[in-house]
Amino acid sequence: MLSYQHSYHAGNFADVHKHICLSLMLEALNKKPKPWSYFETHAGTARYDLTGEEALKNAEFKEGIAQLYPRKLPALLQPYLHIVRSMNDKNAELRKYPGSPWIASEAAREQDKISLMELHPGEYQQLKSVFKRSSNVAVHHRDGYEGVLSLLPPKPNRGLVLIDPSYEVKTEYLQVAKFIDKAYQRWSNGCFAIWYPLLKAANHQQMLNKLKRSGIRNILRVEMCVKSAADERMYGTGMLIINPPWQLDRQLQQVNTLLSKYLSAEGAAPPVVEWLVPE
Ligand SMILES: C[S@@+](CC[C@H](N)C(=O)[O-])C[C@H]1O[C@@H](n2cnc3c(N)ncnc32)[C@H](O)[C@@H]1O
Repeated sequence: MLSYQHSYHAGNFADVHKHICLSLMLEALNKKPKPWSYFETHAGTARYDLTGEEALKNAEFKEGIAQLYPRKLPALLQPYLHIVRSMNDKNAELRKYPGSPWIASEAAREQDKISLMELHPGEYQQLKSVFKRSSNVAVHHRDGYEGVLSLLPPKPNRGLVLIDPSYEVKTEYLQVAKFIDKAYQRWSNGCFAIWYPLLKAANHQQMLNKLKRSGIRNILRVEMCVKSAADERMYGTGMLIINPPWQLDRQLQQVNTLLSKYLSAEGAAPPVVEWLVPE
């Protein structure tokens, strides 16, 4: 099923949280000159127009990036904010928002390699045109699970896989757990970041339970809630990070505290950073 389009949700609170986590992981990879490989199973289109009809339909970005954009914020958030600001005209209002492939390509150095999977034909075409002049970005019109698996283990052998499905069907949570099982067997030193929504039905729990029993160690769980868990809409956002960079847990404690201050309403549960499975 390919009815989901990220342009309706770009820049919402979940994007902000996920993209800050991503920018910190990429920064950690850039601490060493050795090249890295980056993969996305579900890439989207890489650039979003917040003045377009889709983004304005529910204007989700107003409760996300628009809350942070005008503020002076601590250094930890600057790599992410710099990328958002550099897409927009200086001193003008927020109009554009980056997708995760754009964030990765901005962090990439000449020696790094990016491989992106996108199955939706229209989204794929847009993504392809964004990177048509980028020699280190490969865009594939392919199922993300099968496509990324076929490229593991990669050269360069250090790096990151972002798994960011829309979870339109409930079975996707278990599909992600199965993908991780196989991908980890092929690349046990890779870092894997899995995004998931927090919804009243709590379907993400089956994925967490499965990964907890998988035998894989060193899994960090990060969650931030913006509304009460009784809300009918997505009330929070989560990331599981396997093999996170050193001290990412501490950084994400600070990120969660900061973002909750600007994005969370009264009645939202406190944010979480804990080891689902320790090292
Ligand atoms: C949540 S969006 C991705 C957002 C993007 N990662 C970001 O943060 O900017 C999910 C994307 O996955 C695509 N998609 C859905 N099923 C897919 C599959 N099996 N393989 C690859 N892409 C898929 C959708 O068309 C959609 O563009």
